[in-house]
Amino acid sequence: MTTDAAATSATDTTEAFAAAYGDAPDGVWAAPGRINVIGEHTDYNEGFVLPAALPHTTRVAARRRTDGRIRLTSVQGDGKVTELALDGLAPGAVPGWAAYPAGVFWALAQAGHPVGGADLAFTSDVPTGAGLSSSAALECATAIALDELFGLGLDAPARALLAQRAENDFVGVPCGALDQMASSCCVAGHAFFLDTRTLTGRQVPLDLPAVGLSLLVIDTRVKHDLGDGAYAALRAGCERAAELLGVRALRDLGIEELAAAEEKLPAELRPLVRHVVTEDQRVLDTIRLLDAGEPRALGPVLTAGHASLRDDYRVSCPETDLAVSAANAAGALGARMMGGGFGGSVLALVDTDRLGAVERAVCAAFAEAGFAAPYVFPAVPSQGAHRIK
Ligand code: GLA
Repeated sequence: MTTDAAATSATDTTEAFAAAYGDAPDGVWAAPGRINVIGEHTDYNEGFVLPAALPHTTRVAARRRTDGRIRLTSVQGDGKVTELALDGLAPGAVPGWAAYPAGVFWALAQAGHPVGGADLAFTSDVPTGAGLSSSAALECATAIALDELFGLGLDAPARALLAQRAENDFVGVPCGALDQMASSCCVAGHAFFLDTRTLTGRQVPLDLPAVGLSLLVIDTRVKHDLGDGAYAALRAGCERAAELLGVRALRDLGIEELAAAEEKLPAELRPLVRHVVTEDQRVLDTIRLLDAGEPRALGPVLTAGHASLRDDYRVSCPETDLAVSAANAAGALGARMMGGGFGGSVLALVDTDRLGAVERAVCAAFAEAGFAAPYVFPAVPSQGAHRIK
């Protein structure tokens, strides 16, 4: 976010707070959505990911309470105020969007942190259901606000893991750590190379505009829902394959062991393993190319990642496939779908002077196929969760 945009967001969110609760908040915090350069469906296999934060954020204006009551409202929701009691929170008990922030209160309390009640008002410009981690932005904004309101002294990875716990155990979506770690820990101008087993990583400079390149996000507007069981089934398939192969997680298989591993597996698990093992290798290849100063060479790696998600993992859909093929046909260096799949967004690596041509080509292809117009915007690697007021 630019300084001006941050100030506007802070003002809007403060106003939403005043409209709901008739008073001023103690502070305003923001947490971003994310792209993922490469490393899809590797996180719950203890593998590698390479996300970057978006300039799009969820903001929360918050005020501490001392009576254990929680009030939640969102300008993007129905505008109503949801009221809850901290000691009455239980997994599955809160419906709708409020489960995400409520889950963060619950996860903090479960972990023994002295968190009390609070009044929270949210605004957001992170597209929802678009594979850009709007849920993680909501959770991570809540986590940083509560951390600072109650002086908990958590660091960014600790907040991310509590946010993930909220999503896993309170909301009930068995996601990995990618989204929350990205939303909490990313640094502007960088991608975050993360080993999701050790939770160690490094910030990798990603100044593509300096070499005439841009990352373009194409939100197909096909909404995905990770809570519908398909994601959990894929995760279970990977865990089953690891068990059959006698490894802790698929991360433990190197690319040179893949062929032998496939022979030991039932036919339906082979493509899952093939995707995860080759995808981990693609993250490592991407890091090597970025370290070597060869970002143009990322294009084919991205497109190979898409083919693997489409043909082996089978989480693509006609809209994401068309966005990839139309972008590449119009001169993108490479493209792939991002996130859980079954809709969502595509990331394309494009020469900056071809951005307009690629966007027009994708929009024309969508119109011709009878698909709704996509939302296309350049992804500028931005700052992870932080206080804005
Ligand atoms: C969703 C999940 C993440 C990750 C991706 C796929 O975004 O929340 O944990 O598994 O899908 O890479």
